[in-house]
Formats: sequence, C-alpha cells, structure tokens
Amino acid sequence: MTLPLPRYSRITGTGSFLPSRRVTNAQLAEELAQRGVETSDEWIVARTGIHARHFAAPEVTASDLGFEAAKHALEAAGRSAADIDLIIVATSTPDMIFPSSACLIQQKLGVHGCPAFDLQAVCSGFVYALTVADSMIRTGAASKALVIGAEVFSRILDFNDRTTCVLFGDGAGAVVLEASDQPGLLASELHADGRHVGILCTPGTVAGGKVLGDPLLKMDGQAVFKLAVGVLEDVARSVLAKAGRQDADIDWLIPHQANIRIMQGTAKKLKLPLEKLIVTVDEHGNTSAASIPLALDHAVRTGRIKQGDTVMLEGVGGGFTWGAVLLDF
Ligand code: ACO
Repeated sequence: MTLPLPRYSRITGTGSFLPSRRVTNAQLAEELAQRGVETSDEWIVARTGIHARHFAAPEVTASDLGFEAAKHALEAAGRSAADIDLIIVATSTPDMIFPSSACLIQQKLGVHGCPAFDLQAVCSGFVYALTVADSMIRTGAASKALVIGAEVFSRILDFNDRTTCVLFGDGAGAVVLEASDQPGLLASELHADGRHVGILCTPGTVAGGKVLGDPLLKMDGQAVFKLAVGVLEDVARSVLAKAGRQDADIDWLIPHQANIRIMQGTAKKLKLPLEKLIVTVDEHGNTSAASIPLALDHAVRTGRIKQGDTVMLEGVGGGFTWGAVLLDF
C-alpha cells in the first residue's frame, strides 16, 4: 500500500490595496480641531510611530478593498479566479450583516461554487484565516485558497475620542495559498481569552431595525498594550519550538501593525535586529485584519522578502485573540 504524500500549503502570491485618500497626522489633527478634539503629529508619532493612514470614501466597502487586493494576489501567483476553490475573508468591518464579504468578493471575482466565508478575530483575523486555510488544504478540502484581510475601520471610529481615532486606517491585503509537497507554512498557533472582551470592543448591535448599544470602537490602550507584549513573545516561541526552529532562523518578523513600540519590544524579546522587522504602521496606521497581509505584500514588492525566506507573522487584537504563523516564503 502506498501512503499519500504529505500535503502542505505555501503562499504563491501576495497583493494589497489602499484607498487613495491618505491622511497625515497634521491633516487629521486639523480636522479633529474643528470638533474641539486636540491632538498633534508629535504625540501620535511618539506614542505609536504612525505618520499617516488611508481612509476609504463613504461608498467604498471592505469587499471593494478586498477584491482589489485579491486581484493583485492572483496576478502575482499567476492564477485566475476560476482556479480558486476556497475564499476566506478576515474582517470586523464587513459590508453588511449578511451575506459575508467573502461571498461578495466571490461574486465580484465572477466565480461561483467554491466555499466562501468571513472569519472574525479582529486584528488576529488574518493569522486565524491563514491557519484555517492551511488546515483545509492539508486535509484535502481545498487546493488553492484566497485568504484576505479587508477593513474599513474608519466606519467604527469615534472621531470625538482622540485616544482611538488617531490609531486606525482602512486597507486590504491578500495571499493565494496553494497545496504543495514542500512545506511553506511550517507551524501555527491560535489563542483567545474571552475574559478580556471589554478592553477592546465595538459593543453595538442591530435589533428591531435599530442600532442597540454603542457602535463605535472602545479601547483601554494600556491594558491592550500590556497583554500584547507578553502574548506576542510567548506565541512566537511556541511556534518556533513546534517547527523545530530558533529565533535566529527568522529572516523577517511581521507583527500586527498597531504600535511601533509593541513591535520593537517583540523583536527585542526575540533577539532580532530591528532591520528584520517589517514596519508599515508608519504609513498605514492600524488596519486590523488587513495589517499583516498589507505589510507582507509591501515587503515582497519592495524586494525585501524573497523566496525561501523564513517569516514569522503575529496577530493580536480584540477578543482578546492572538496567534502566530511561521512560514518559508
Ligand atoms: N493626542 C494627544 N494626547 C493624547 C491622545 C492624542 N491622540 N490620546 C491620548 N492622549 C493623552 C491622554 O489623554 C493622556 O493624557 P493625561 O496624561 O493628561 O491623562 C496622555 O496622552 C497619555 O495617554 P496614555 O493612554 O497613557 O498613552 P499611552 O502611552 O498608553 O499610548 C496608546 C496610548 C497609543 C493607545 C497605547 O496604549 C497603545 O498603543 N496601546 C495598544 C493598542 C493596540 O495594540 N491595539 C492592538 C489591537 S487593535 C484591535 O484589535 C482592533
């Protein structure tokens, strides 16, 4: 009897898309001042490393951004939409309650029949989605997946709350993940701790035709900061151990792009020189589930991440959720 060959998954193409309206800290500070909300470029840069973010026009949705990112990823992989047999979209800002943004993107791509669903794990969403797609490919349930992170966080920001509205932006990133006899994804791990639901949430909902509760983002920044620093180190070490690799084997670290201080702290704990840290938070702000695939695509297209490089992706966010994926690109 011949045993089936081991089946792995590998990223074969990346893509991303940003809305055209780029808003610098100075521009945002000026807009907020008109509401009586005081902030400054100096404060935002010093506390977060953010210089600018992109905001989508009112009529542009997460599925519009995700669709554009998906097209770029398909082109990079040399695939057409018809080749895809699974679509997963990580988002916390879907176009509508249902159908899912994944079904809307499938329709925009002009293909039909393959499974398509949204996955909601806030800023850990892309790492969650990649892990689910990898599992489905390994079991033979799919062969060529589109994994997308797409967000319009500007829709859920309270522009009267300076502690949160300066942090986030809109955008999308995508990868094509394909079955392979050589490992691409080496190991991954996901976690959640619902005891911390209150430190980062958008608690409103819709019922009886009305919005019930507050539909705008709330965050206890310091509580999130403290939790994030600890879990990002622990999960990276655990995933390295699972893959039989060491800190020094990491060529590139792509943590969730929320705050440069958390990202640099994580690199330091993993004893990685800062040159190995991919940073896009300066130009994108925190784009939640889109931040990791946006940063990955940026690093690939600027020639830093090359085929064969070992990359650690790390997500952390509302839920509280966190996770990591180690891969050979
Ligand atoms: N402009 C000017 N001043 C401000 C602003 C602002 N935009 N925001 C807050 N301040 C003031 C505060 O009022 C406070 O003033 P006070 O000392 O007079 O009271 C002072 O600045 C310091 O505020 P802190 O909250 O202590 O600032 P901190 O250094 O903690 O930075 C920040 C805040 C940037 C939010 C930080 O805590 C952080 O990055 N936390 C983690 C966020 C994160 O990682 N999120 C990831 C997940 S996101 C997701 O899942 C959706």
